[in-house]
Amino acid sequence: MGRLDGKTAIITGAGQGLGLAIAELFAKEGAKVVGTGRHVDKVEKAFAKILAEHPDYQMAAMQHDVASKEEWEKIAKDTAEKYGSVDVVVNNAAIMAMKGILEASAEEFLNVYKTNCLAVMLGIQAVVPYMEKAGKGSIVNIDSIGGLTSGDADGGDSTYSASKGGTRALTKNAAIQLAAKNIRVNSVHPGGIMTEMLKSVYAATPALWDRVKETCPLPPHVSDPIDIAYGALFLASDESRSMTGSELVMDCGYMAH
Ligand SMILES: NC(=O)c1ccc[n+]([C@@H]2O[C@H](COP(=O)([O-])OP(=O)(O)OC[C@H]3O[C@@H](n4cnc5c(N)ncnc54)[C@H](O)[C@@H]3O)[C@@H](O)[C@H]2O)c1
Repeated sequence: MGRLDGKTAIITGAGQGLGLAIAELFAKEGAKVVGTGRHVDKVEKAFAKILAEHPDYQMAAMQHDVASKEEWEKIAKDTAEKYGSVDVVVNNAAIMAMKGILEASAEEFLNVYKTNCLAVMLGIQAVVPYMEKAGKGSIVNIDSIGGLTSGDADGGDSTYSASKGGTRALTKNAAIQLAAKNIRVNSVHPGGIMTEMLKSVYAATPALWDRVKETCPLPPHVSDPIDIAYGALFLASDESRSMTGSELVMDCGYMAH
């Protein structure tokens, strides 16, 4: 028996990195998975590789820019039509600008904010009518330790930190407002995860790796995508049914200081 049997889950930014790991783990645990991405061919390709090995998994790719309200409404409708319900949403897609507070332009700030924070609000608005109809739902927002604190935690990217701090607050606000509908909203706060995003942070801040070894004392100091995917799985499943508005920190010890 899978931990997500009978559930349909939308996962944004599922073509690579953490989103892809979550999509594969959720499918393994019995969920019907809709993986979305701006470049749907990339998601299709990644899913095809998994499906070749696991033809019993249920995984569909859909074109989606998370910053678009219209596209969110279409994703929610198409998912409900294809699989019958929308039970779980993982807001995973995000970008970075790698700009300090004195360098970031208004356009760069707004661009990051739109993808990382506004998109979460649009996603919640789009799926709640379907979850309300089912009488329950779980929304998992992939945040960051950059949304809890700053400095090394955001690689010096002020736009990213602001967007993730906003998402943390939005998560708690939504948790309170949606609790009576039995819709849970929680956030996951990873430290470093070995993905393309982290590689871009190390490229921009080469000295960071040495500090990571000290500030994240638990080896190997950064997580693999699958480690964080297990956190998302717990929050998506009914195992966490008494949790809402919670912050699941998965950071090799960074926040313990
Ligand atoms: N990698 C890390 O060290 C790290 C640390 C903490 C938190 N996180 C968070 O984990 C999540 C996943 O990050 P990752 O490391 O896998 O990043 P990644 O860059 O490898 O993947 C992000 C995905 O989001 C997609 N995306 C970006 N903008 C989009 C849009 N407008 N619409 C749809 N899709 C879009 C990208 O195409 C990509 O597939 C993000 O929320 C990130 O902030 C990552």
